[in-house]
Amino acid sequence: MSTWANLGLQDSASPLMEQLIFFHDHALLILVMITVLVGYLMFMLFFNNYVNRFLLHGQMIEMIWTILPAIILLFIAFPSLRLLYLLDEINEPSITLKSIGHQWYWSYEYSDFNDIEFDSYMIPTNELSTDGFRLLDVDNRIVLPMNSQIRILVTAADVIHSWTIPALGVKVDGTPGRLNQTNFFINRPGLFYGQCSEICGANHSFMPIVIESVPINYFIKWITN
Ligand code: CUA
Repeated sequence: MSTWANLGLQDSASPLMEQLIFFHDHALLILVMITVLVGYLMFMLFFNNYVNRFLLHGQMIEMIWTILPAIILLFIAFPSLRLLYLLDEINEPSITLKSIGHQWYWSYEYSDFNDIEFDSYMIPTNELSTDGFRLLDVDNRIVLPMNSQIRILVTAADVIHSWTIPALGVKVDGTPGRLNQTNFFINRPGLFYGQCSEICGANHSFMPIVIESVPINYFIKWITN
C-alpha cells in the first residue's frame, strides 16, 4: 500500500502491474528528453542574433520537424497498444470473484463455490483498532490465492463504481446492467488495498477494497469454512 510521501506508483504485486510500471518509466524518459530539448532550444532563442529578413519557407526543416516527432510518438504508441491487449488477455482463470458495487460498500460472490457471498464495509475511524488503516480497512476482506490466475467480474447495483487495486494494476468500472471482466495474478502474499474510483456519491471515499493474498492451501482452508 501507499504510505507517507509515496507519490509514485506502488510496488507491483502482479506481472501486469510490473509491465505498467515499465511502460510508465519508458514514457517518462521520452517526455524528459523532449522537455529538455525543447527547453534548451527555447532558452537559446534569447541569444540568437541571426536574422534573415528574406526567409519565407524551409521545406526540408518543415519535413524533418513533422516526421521526427511522429516517429518518436510511435515509440510510445506501440508499447502502449501491446500493454492494452495484454491487460485484456484471459489465461484460463482458476477462480472467479464477482464484485458488486453498492452505495457505499462492495459485496463479493465466489461463484465457483456454493453460498459464499458477503458484504465488505469500511471500518469507521471510531471503531478502528490501533494497527488499522483509517479509511482503508474493511470488516470483511476478500481472500484470494497467490500464484494463480484470478478472474474478476465487476458490476454495480445502483450507480457506477470502480473496483481499483493499484498494486495489482486492476481498475474496472462496475456499471449497472453490465458485467465487466478482467483478470490478474498475485505473485506474493500480503494485504492489497484499493478504493472506488468513480465519483459515486456522498460516501464515494468510504468504500475501500482489501485483498488478502494467501498461499493456495490457506485459501482452500478458508473457503471450506
Ligand atoms: Cu463507489 Cu466511488
